Amino acid sequence: MASHLLSIADLADQFPAIIGWAIALKNDPDGLDFRPLEGLTIGSIYEKPSTRTRVSFEVGIQQLGGMPLTLLKQDIQLGSSETISDTAKVLSRYLGAITYRCFSHSDATELAASSEVPVINALSDLHHPCQAAADFMTIQEEFSSSKVNLAWVGDGNNVLHDFILGAAILGHNLTWATPPGLEPEESVVERAKSLAEVSGSKLLASNDPVEAVRDSDVIYTDVFLSMGEEKEAGKLSKFDGFQVNEELCSHAKEEHIFLHCLPAHRGEEVTDHVIDGAHSRVFDQAENRLHAQKSILTWLVDEMAWETYSEIAGLI
Ligand code: CP
Ligand code: NVA
Repeated sequence: MASHLLSIADLADQFPAIIGWAIALKNDPDGLDFRPLEGLTIGSIYEKPSTRTRVSFEVGIQQLGGMPLTLLKQDIQLGSSETISDTAKVLSRYLGAITYRCFSHSDATELAASSEVPVINALSDLHHPCQAAADFMTIQEEFSSSKVNLAWVGDGNNVLHDFILGAAILGHNLTWATPPGLEPEESVVERAKSLAEVSGSKLLASNDPVEAVRDSDVIYTDVFLSMGEEKEAGKLSKFDGFQVNEELCSHAKEEHIFLHCLPAHRGEEVTDHVIDGAHSRVFDQAENRLHAQKSILTWLVDEMAWETYSEIAGLI
């Protein structure tokens, strides 16, 4: 049976090696003549717009020797005249793997349940594992310490869910500040807490941005209104005091970095001063989507190649 990546928790013990391999590949792109997707077509279904995820998958698949095939939902039968399950069974006969950006996480779960090839969640309402892989790669590149203090300020959304799970797997401390009523899903937090018992990660929930940011090494935020929520005008008013600006950042450590998954709504959740400032790593983070997804794709599609090259790179 194929392995899937629906949330970052699916990587579990492999997560450090996947990050390590992505960093090795980034630093030595010509050193590894690595084409594990040779002869395979990787399909990517999108129900929502995408810049980073779509382009980094298309480029990464080509760099790994495969052929990317982007399928916009309005152009295929999925969901209108064909069930998700039938679509999965058919696509499995043509493709080496499927990436899926969807509104409802249960659709990603359904696709994976009927797919004979690996399914990668390319963002759902609940999880964004490919983003988390790039986020923790960026953090590892920046800090030599294996335990850093992370702060999240903003919505209790998909990006936060995998940031909490990733911190819990890797043993980082994380305090998230969300407005009351917009906390992350309890089931995700419970899963993270059980992972944190093994790793020693300290996870704290707050409604106070200053408390989250105090003495942090990393400040992370995302849009206040996610795709599909644009018309929920009432939600925006709950974020008073949650903008990441110079004053809020003054509570973090002197050498802190700022992260944002992008796209950013400048002037809303973050000021130009912060996102364009010396502490910002948002464009390194965006670049790392490419390297992290190449590592994930290889691990899921050709585990033998992944192990061979990881051994050569001294990672396992
Ligand atoms: N961060 C992210 O997933 O960006 P896109 O929506 O542009 O893919
Ligand atoms: N939370 C955002 C992330 C976009 C990459 C959304 O779901 O729209």
